[in-house]
Amino acid sequence: MAKLRSLHQAKGRKEQNLILLEGTHLLQECERLRLEPQLICSTDIWAQRHQYLMKLTPRQIVSPEVLCAMASTENPDGVVSLLAMPSDLTSLPQLDLAAKPLLLALDRVQDPGNLGTLLRTSLAAGVDQVWLGGGADPWQPKVLRASAGAVLQLQLRRWPSLVAGITTAKQSGLQVLAAVQRGGRPYWEVDWQLPSVLLLGNEGAGLEAELIDEAQLVTVPHGQEVESLNVAVAAGLMLMERNRQTHRAIHGRGESLIAEMGP
Ligand SMILES: C[S@@+](CC[C@H](N)C(=O)[O-])C[C@H]1O[C@@H](n2cnc3c(N)ncnc32)[C@H](O)[C@@H]1O
Repeated sequence: MAKLRSLHQAKGRKEQNLILLEGTHLLQECERLRLEPQLICSTDIWAQRHQYLMKLTPRQIVSPEVLCAMASTENPDGVVSLLAMPSDLTSLPQLDLAAKPLLLALDRVQDPGNLGTLLRTSLAAGVDQVWLGGGADPWQPKVLRASAGAVLQLQLRRWPSLVAGITTAKQSGLQVLAAVQRGGRPYWEVDWQLPSVLLLGNEGAGLEAELIDEAQLVTVPHGQEVESLNVAVAAGLMLMERNRQTHRAIHGRGESLIAEMGP
């Protein structure tokens, strides 16, 4: 039990090279993606209601009290699973610039709900890679849940210094855009058809000055009654504008967004 609970913390995950998936949806995602959990622990009632997922093995029936102790949420839905850590976040395949990739680079985004939402939106918008400069651990249970499992499908890389990554991206010919709450070009005026990196900053401190120096500034204009937008909301608007401009295929389905919407 102590070993399993240690997966709530980054240290425990690293030592055991495992992550903890809480809830039915993340297990369904595993099945869909053909990822094989190392262990599924569920209550008897959950197992009876989810026979189709019980094909996945090995599995163990535990009491509701034991399941609660394993989970990080107060009201788990009856199942937790252990999965080998999908990646150590240190490398990614080379980018194909001809395919006009879009990268999202997150500077110290620390709220697990925000990071999970950004990852879920990135997958929905067809972002090619997500770079992390510090911030929340993408393998922590709250991020996994908030991402609705998107974290299991995305290409993720953690940089010791995002500045180094951004400098490399710029030298490779990507346009570097920094999302700032005011003072940038309105996001609909940006040419999103170019290969790009979109930088988004920490919830309190925003983007590091060194990163802003490397970039063209882009803003989602809004009323002055609030100081700024939530980072995931700002990202969502810009990512969907890029899809609007590029008539981008919906990720994984190969259909034109515009065609699907009709005239
Ligand atoms: C909550 S904001 C941080 C506000 C912080 N006080 C600052 O000075 O930047 C978190 C991040 O969301 C993005 N963001 C928030 N509002 C935005 C807007 N209106 N346009 C573009 N990006 C925005 C920026 O990347 C920002 O660094």
